[in-house]
Amino acid sequence: MTASKNRSPKSQQMATTAIHSGRHQTQERENSPPLFLTSSFTFHSAQQAAAVFAGEENGNLYSRFTNPTVAAFEERIATLEGGERGVAMASGMAAITSVFLGLLAAGDHLVLSRSVFGSTSNLANGLLTDMGIDTTQVPLSNLDAWRQAVRPETKLFFVETPSNPTLEMVDLTALSQLARERNILVAVDNVFCTPCLQRPLALGADLVIHSATKYLDGQGRVLGGVVIGSESLITEKIYPILRNAGPTLSPFNAWVLYKGMETLPLRMERHCDNSQIVAEFLAEQPLLASRVNYPGLSSHPQHQLAARQMDRFGGIVCVDLGSRERAYTFINGLELATITANLGDVRTLVTHPASTTHAKLSEENRLAVGITQGLVRFSIGLEAADDICEDLLQALHTLPYR
Ligand SMILES: Cc1ncc(COP(=O)(O)O)c(C=O)c1O
Repeated sequence: MTASKNRSPKSQQMATTAIHSGRHQTQERENSPPLFLTSSFTFHSAQQAAAVFAGEENGNLYSRFTNPTVAAFEERIATLEGGERGVAMASGMAAITSVFLGLLAAGDHLVLSRSVFGSTSNLANGLLTDMGIDTTQVPLSNLDAWRQAVRPETKLFFVETPSNPTLEMVDLTALSQLARERNILVAVDNVFCTPCLQRPLALGADLVIHSATKYLDGQGRVLGGVVIGSESLITEKIYPILRNAGPTLSPFNAWVLYKGMETLPLRMERHCDNSQIVAEFLAEQPLLASRVNYPGLSSHPQHQLAARQMDRFGGIVCVDLGSRERAYTFINGLELATITANLGDVRTLVTHPASTTHAKLSEENRLAVGITQGLVRFSIGLEAADDICEDLLQALHTLPYR
């Protein structure tokens, strides 16, 4: 694990930082970073092994918790997020689980937004409840609801902003202040933005979480996750979960992610450019006029907050077709977009959240956060925007009663 003491780079420096951070050349003088595919590391002597295990000497031990390729990825994402240290995990859910397990114990109370990824909600209401950790879910953007949910035993606020898939947001500065005044930590799932578009630590949050599976990889190849925060919080609360429970990121996946991040700023620009074009194009279609959801549209109820809090508006566009039947017809009519439950790929991806990513939630809970049966989520890719729009238009023409 390598600590990064850098402050968050300004967005115009992201392109340079994404390429040069976390780079530690070995004596072989390689240009591209090496891949350390090894389970363990060796020692000159039994005494040295003891010294490294005791923390008296620096060195790699065992790849469950120390691997130079994984450390390079951790350093790179921690630098971009403006955190002191990152700990990589096997997936986004492993990262979220590690935050919950690291910060909460029986008797504690967690407040999280209603609009979170399906598995995060299931985890909070299943495993955590079984462990004696009480959970309250509140409407994401309603600061009064957060305030009212607080109890003496509340230890953590958890948010996803913008949320998956409904693109709801919370004012992170205001929420962090509210939490700080009450001695509560704030963890932010920053998957939809990446540090290129939003840096929650600079807005007052304590921890940032990523499903690296999404934009950090950016090409739909590997699973990964990471938690970033201050040296003390990560070292004392999150790293012990990695070391003892072992939700470890493989060095191979770390290498793919490390390399993938070199193009992250470039890709995010293009995702945002394309998404704005696609959202405006969809909003012009008479059938869809008021049914397009994208923070970059002035019709989005939180457009002003998005403009203040995020550098740009992201790569996810949602549209409500009115019913599951119409949503399915539209999805099945697409030729360029791929039907899959992932996001943040070079390809345009399409998902029906109510029957896939959020299928395990009750209909009541889904509707409470706006996940209707007609909702279709697009992760807009890097293809030519005209080609994406053309595909959407021909799929719209397959719908009956346009
Ligand atoms: C916002 C968000 N958080 C967390 C996750 C979980 O990530 P992973 O699939 O890498 O475990 C996802 C996955 O889709 C997600 O969209």
